Amino acid sequence: MSVLVVGGAGYIGSHVVRLLRESGTDVVVVDDLSNGVPARIGDTTLEQIDISANAAPEALAGVIRREKVDAVIHFAAKKQVGESVERPLFYYQQNIGGLVNVLEAMRRENVTKMIFSSSASVYGAPEDAVVTEDSPTEPINPYGRSKLIGEWILADCERAWGLNWVALRYFNVAGAGWPELGDSVIMNLIPMVLDKLADGAAPRVFGDDYPTPDGTCIRDYVHVKDLAEAHIAALHGLDGQLTHHVFNVGTGRGSSVTEVIESIGRVSGLDTSPLVEGRRAGDPPKLIASADRIREDLGFVAKADLDEIVASAWEAWQAGPRRIEA
Ligand SMILES: NC(=O)c1ccc[n+]([C@@H]2O[C@H](COP(=O)([O-])OP(=O)(O)OC[C@H]3O[C@@H](n4cnc5c(N)ncnc54)[C@H](O)[C@@H]3O)[C@@H](O)[C@H]2O)c1
Repeated sequence: MSVLVVGGAGYIGSHVVRLLRESGTDVVVVDDLSNGVPARIGDTTLEQIDISANAAPEALAGVIRREKVDAVIHFAAKKQVGESVERPLFYYQQNIGGLVNVLEAMRRENVTKMIFSSSASVYGAPEDAVVTEDSPTEPINPYGRSKLIGEWILADCERAWGLNWVALRYFNVAGAGWPELGDSVIMNLIPMVLDKLADGAAPRVFGDDYPTPDGTCIRDYVHVKDLAEAHIAALHGLDGQLTHHVFNVGTGRGSSVTEVIESIGRVSGLDTSPLVEGRRAGDPPKLIASADRIREDLGFVAKADLDEIVASAWEAWQAGPRRIEA
């Protein structure tokens, strides 16, 4: 079994590369290193290819042939919501164009197994706090739309040439399975808080007047190593008969912004008293995954609780360039 991991030098992809290699699976990584770090994948074969380029299908087909690839896990995408609003065409060119090129190479080489990184952002700002895979999909920004369109493209390829696919809709991914594989982008809550603490500043809370018990937004935090395990479960699932293609990956439990910041205070021993600012546009009060389908169909259950996630994120931060002294 040989797996092509596209975007494998990134935060989540490198965790999956490590799990696959630990299980003895042959892995080849394609990444343009726009946000990837080669050191994350050690001596795994790396092909530096921009998958959104016109020449990409040919180059990818060559990699698939040479490495005798049986399955593709597709992480490569641009992921900053705010930037996607400012540069929608770039996001569609990268996220949709890139996916189409990967699928074209697979079609040419008769590779039919694909796992796709989707996102809870396909749900937009839903009415219900707990979303199932059948909840309405109404993304509210180009990033979220690029993920939903990606799922539609996969379904069309299934109809046209028998693509066998799974889309995993990740909720709030955090932590690090190994300290050197932490997230280098300051975009999600835990890195944002650690970034402020590294500057000697107070963490910021955007809105404490939401209709939640402590007034701050509630999200479903999933440990990146658990998420990586979900990909392994999905890969096994593709060997059998799947009744569904789309799965939420979360814990089914919510934590508020205040709870996360308090957990960071407990783990780090630092004063994490926040500065409360106004609400940000488009933040739903509560967004939690229903984790039933992935448990029932793929046997996957996320194990880590909030303190374990935060402790691993703290350890990874402290192993990086901006260590925080207490
Ligand atoms: N991190 C999250 O919280 C989160 C949540 C939901 C979904 N996702 C999705 O999961 C996937 C992985 O996210 P991540 O956090 O690991 O991001 P990341 O930026 O760390 O990893 C993406 C990787 O893809 C590579 N890449 C980007 N564009 C490319 C291109 N045109 N050609 C080749 N390689 C390219 C980057 O260099 C990087 O190594 C993305 O598709 C993202 O949208 C992430």
